[in-house]
Amino acid sequence: MLDTNKMLEYTSPVQADLDDFSRNLNDVVKGDSPLIASIARHLLKARGKRIRPAFLFLSSRAADNFTEHTVSASLAIELIHTATLLHDDVVDESEMRRGQDTVNAQWTNLISVLMGDYLFAKAFRIMVTTESLQLMQAISEATERVSIGELRQIEETGNYDVSEDEYLSIIADKTASLFAVSCETGPILLKRPIGERQRFAMFGEKIGTAFQIADDLLDFVGDAEVTGKEPGNDVLTGRVTLPLIFTLKNVGKAARKEILGCLDQPERDQETFQRLHQFVTESGGIDYAYDRADRLCQQGLDAISKVKESIYYDSLAGMVEFAIARAS
Ligand code: IPE
Ligand code: IPE
Ligand code: MG
Ligand code: MG
Repeated sequence: MLDTNKMLEYTSPVQADLDDFSRNLNDVVKGDSPLIASIARHLLKARGKRIRPAFLFLSSRAADNFTEHTVSASLAIELIHTATLLHDDVVDESEMRRGQDTVNAQWTNLISVLMGDYLFAKAFRIMVTTESLQLMQAISEATERVSIGELRQIEETGNYDVSEDEYLSIIADKTASLFAVSCETGPILLKRPIGERQRFAMFGEKIGTAFQIADDLLDFVGDAEVTGKEPGNDVLTGRVTLPLIFTLKNVGKAARKEILGCLDQPERDQETFQRLHQFVTESGGIDYAYDRADRLCQQGLDAISKVKESIYYDSLAGMVEFAIARAS
C-alpha cells in the first residue's frame, strides 16, 4: 500500500506535532451533516502522506520558529490541499486516489466539488485564528497559484510543443506553491527577517517542483497497487509532462511522428500507453526527469544551507530524498 511508513523515519522528530495535527483534523472535519460526515470518514480512512505538514513542522523546528499557531497553519494548508484534490479528481476524471475510490467516483462530481468548497471554507476559518495577516496573505496567494496552475495546465492539454520552462512554471504554481508556504510559515508567524523567509520559501518551491516531477514520473513508472492512482492517466488524456517533453524534443523525425500518431489516436488505450512508455524510456526521458528533480532538490537544500545542524535539519534532508524517491 501507500509508502507512508517510509516517511516515519524522517518525521519522528516532529511526531508529537503530527499527532496534534491529526487530532485537530479529525475534529475539524467531523461533519456538519450526515453526508459531510460520511465523506469526511472516507477522506480520513486513507489519509494521504501529510507531506506538507511534515515539511511545515520540520522547517519551523529546524529554525526555532515553532509557535502556538503553527499547527493551525498546517491544518489550513492540508485542508486546502485536500480541497484541491477533490476538485482535481473531477477535472481529471480520476476514479482512484489513495488506493480507494475518489469522492467523485463513490458519490458524484457535484458532491466532490461542493465538499472541496466546504474544506476551503474550513481552511479559511482556521487560517484566521493564526491572527497573522502576512500568513493569510501568503496562504491566499498560494491558493490562487494552485488555481492558476490547474487552469494553465488545461490550456496546455494536447499541446505537444509545450516547453520544459512552461511545464516547470505550471507545476510550480499548481504544486510547489503549497510546499513553499508550508516551509515559510515559521518565519512568517515569528516575523523573522525577510531573507530567512525567502530562503525557506525557495526551499519549498524547489522541493515542491521536484515532488510534482516525481509524481508525474509515477504516471509512467508507478504501480497502481502502491501509488493508489491509475498509471497512464496523464499521457492518455493529453497531459504532457517532463519525460514526454524531453522525448519529443530529442527523438528523430520518424519517432516523433509515431509518438504524435499515438497521442492523436481517438481511442487511447493501455496498448498505446505501453508504446509511449517504451519511447519515453528508450529516449532517456525517464532518467532525464529524475535528474531534473534531483537538481531541484539540491538547489532547495542549498537555499537553507545556513540553517544550523540539528535532528530537524537532518530529517528535512531525508524528506527531500523521500519526496522524489517515493513510490506513492
Ligand atoms: C497529490 O499530492 C497531488 C500532487 C500535488 C502530486 P500528495 O501526493 O501529497 O497527496 P496525498 O495527500 O499524499 O494523497
Ligand atoms: C496535482 O495535480 C493536483 C493539484 C495540485 C491540485 P495532479 O493531477 O498531477 O495530481 P494527481 O496525480 O491527480 O494526484
Ligand atoms: Mg490534475
Ligand atoms: Mg489529478
